[in-house]
Amino acid sequence: MTTDHSLLVEELTLGYKDRVVIDSLDLAVPPGLITAIVGANACGKSTLLRSMSRLLAPRSGHVLLDGKEVHRLPSKEVARTLGLLPQSPIAPEGITVGDLVGRGRHPHKRALSRWNKEDDEAVAAALEATRTVDLADRPVDELSGGQRQRVWIAMALAQRTDLLLLDEPTTFLDVTHQVEVLDLLTDLNRSLGTTIVLVLHDLNLAARYADHLIALASGRLHAAGPPEQVLTPETVLAVFGLRCEVITDPTSGKPLMLPIGRHHNAVRAD
Ligand SMILES: Nc1ncnc2c1ncn2[C@@H]1O[C@H](COP(=O)(O)OP(=O)(O)OP(=O)(O)O)[C@@H](O)[C@H]1O
Ligand SMILES: [Mg+2]
Repeated sequence: MTTDHSLLVEELTLGYKDRVVIDSLDLAVPPGLITAIVGANACGKSTLLRSMSRLLAPRSGHVLLDGKEVHRLPSKEVARTLGLLPQSPIAPEGITVGDLVGRGRHPHKRALSRWNKEDDEAVAAALEATRTVDLADRPVDELSGGQRQRVWIAMALAQRTDLLLLDEPTTFLDVTHQVEVLDLLTDLNRSLGTTIVLVLHDLNLAARYADHLIALASGRLHAAGPPEQVLTPETVLAVFGLRCEVITDPTSGKPLMLPIGRHHNAVRAD
């Protein structure tokens, strides 16, 4: 099952004041799949995600959602189809977890429309899926970084969009919760056909969970395709300036990147 929404970026240029960050970028998000965007700090990943979700207007070029320019669509209309979890979201002061997750329902409400059973169900399911039910009455300000991250993911889930963009959703999470969140997004993708785009810094988790990898370098597309094609020593050297070995992950069969630092050169038995 797929939801078949198309999200395309055409000759997109983005920037701030006199700095160009994304430079004439073309890319297509494959519908119904999980796409991971990887690239060095400051290469423009968050800027791209913000523009794809209508928060940052292009200097030139287009972001097309189902063939329509997102920046010309009403924000609520976009938010019913496409949800964004930003890299550093800010919660209103003193808000409880339950209320914050409830805000994910906002795009589905008209002015004066009542909170209904569907809203209740969406919030309960999002809290359940992210294992944050026990936190529902706590103020968000009091949570640990990892708890807070899961609450934001719950808010994005409560929005129930067919497309979900997440900017580093695994930051602050311990390894178990990282895997749990990525498993959860995979469940969502496999069961509802939700198209998922996520920025990840862990290249090995990206290769393991994504169907499609996009490697950005200085605001340009360096490589895109299945992890086996993109996660190569050549790409890692070009994009991150890092020497590495790539082997086959014995657990998943996907490529596994082993960095070669100055202190640990490859030691081979043969
Ligand atoms: N609001 C802003 N005003 C001015 N410059 C900005 C703004 N946001 C980002 N930038 C600049 O744009 C460039 C790209 O930033 P961006 O946040 O898109 O990078 P990123 O790839 O997400 O990096 P990271 O991996 O560190 O999150 C950086 O040079 C950054 O300093
Ligand atoms: Mg970023």
